Amino acid sequence: MSPPSNLAARDIETLIHPYTNLARFRETGPLVLDHGKGVWVYDTGGRPYLEGMAGLWCTGLGYGNEELVEAAAAQMRKLAFGHLFTGKSHDGAIELAEKLKEMAPAATSKVFFCSSGSEANDTQVKLVRYMNNALGKPQKKKIISRIKAYHGVTVAAASLTGLPANQIDFDLPIPGILHTACPHHWRFAQAGESEEAYASRLAAELEDLIVREGPDTIAAFIAEPVMGAGGVIVPPATYFEKITAVCNLHDVYMISDEVICGFGRLGKSFGSEVLGFAPHSISVGKALTSAYVPMAALTVPEAMYQAMLDESRKIGVFGHGFTYSGHPVAAAVALKTLEIYARERLFEQAAQKAPQFLARLTALGQHPLVGEARGLGLVGGIELVADKATKRSFEPKAGVGARAVQFAEQEGLIVRFLAGDVVSVCPPLVITPQEIDDLFDRLIRALDRTLDWAKRERLI
Ligand SMILES: Cc1ncc(COP(=O)(O)O)c(C=O)c1O
Repeated sequence: MSPPSNLAARDIETLIHPYTNLARFRETGPLVLDHGKGVWVYDTGGRPYLEGMAGLWCTGLGYGNEELVEAAAAQMRKLAFGHLFTGKSHDGAIELAEKLKEMAPAATSKVFFCSSGSEANDTQVKLVRYMNNALGKPQKKKIISRIKAYHGVTVAAASLTGLPANQIDFDLPIPGILHTACPHHWRFAQAGESEEAYASRLAAELEDLIVREGPDTIAAFIAEPVMGAGGVIVPPATYFEKITAVCNLHDVYMISDEVICGFGRLGKSFGSEVLGFAPHSISVGKALTSAYVPMAALTVPEAMYQAMLDESRKIGVFGHGFTYSGHPVAAAVALKTLEIYARERLFEQAAQKAPQFLARLTALGQHPLVGEARGLGLVGGIELVADKATKRSFEPKAGVGARAVQFAEQEGLIVRFLAGDVVSVCPPLVITPQEIDDLFDRLIRALDRTLDWAKRERLI
């Protein structure tokens, strides 16, 4: 192996980095991480960083959890690989499916496993089509998502995603995917419109869309309880109640994408429980294994399962599945992760830590650069603006969010910037109250440095 100091140069010559300005990256190079413990990660020079994003909204238990390491190693020794094709099975997949059925906020008949949130949402699209074909409703196929939604990057999931960068020049979205309004009151409400009135208007817009397209053509609606990558957007209190009523009225299958919000992020097992709606199905991933190994899943209600049985009888096979669907090592790690969440009461603990987290977060709203500081549970976003009074955004090419994240990194804090200069924070659930304070102290210093820089650059 070459010495670690060469890693950055080797990276630039060998890797394509997701979600990166590939041209600018050639000058900045990577931050190469070496190891982690708790909420801290360390680069190859030994410098510590507080991981304020739990990786990519996923390492609920933080780094270096020996129980998870042991669960993976033990399973690798016992049965390193097993699949679920052609009726094969293994104990871990069975037990995990039972556990998820028990936990899920949607009435669940069966569980389907995959390895990523994108695969889970692509599978949702395929199963909705399959079900409605079985039910003799071949025209009921369109799926409604929302502007600024994030549901992944595979062809169908990226089509559900409502962010331009995921679609431009990828020739997406595919036909049959519609996008309705984003429930961001601060940014999109009309002057003087209350949260309640805004939620009613969005529900009416959804209903108009369904009626205009024809309810017999609309199969499903998919939503994240709190939008993550679209900018950490918390909907108005009554939004989901009103949206659910519209979906139910028009026989629209409702999918809650719990890939970020699932497993305690908002202070309960699932985000839909916190936001007060009952979906027909959920997609989960990320914190299911605390991200130690890739695993995702979706739930299948009884009516869909019956339709799948009919299709199987007709076609001869359910023609979908991944090599790694229900991978035994991932299942063992997921079971151990869920055991630790329950034993340590981490979802309740997240709810208990949320007031301090949200108080420190919303206090950032006073900062001259911050238009809105918003969050729920242990996830938050701060939207940086050029003018607080008018909410005017910076020019995207000024790269203000990127600059703030860079200053944070220099302050020993990892956060992320999202489109629209939103800086997101989503620490591991195991973060302590002292570490929450440490996180926000570092973030304030980063914002101050960003403000000085923006003034020097005459951006403000
Ligand atoms: C809500 C949501 N759904 C789906 C995905 C896609 O998951 P993956 O990156 O594992 O494909 C993500 C990823 O961030 C997500 O936040």
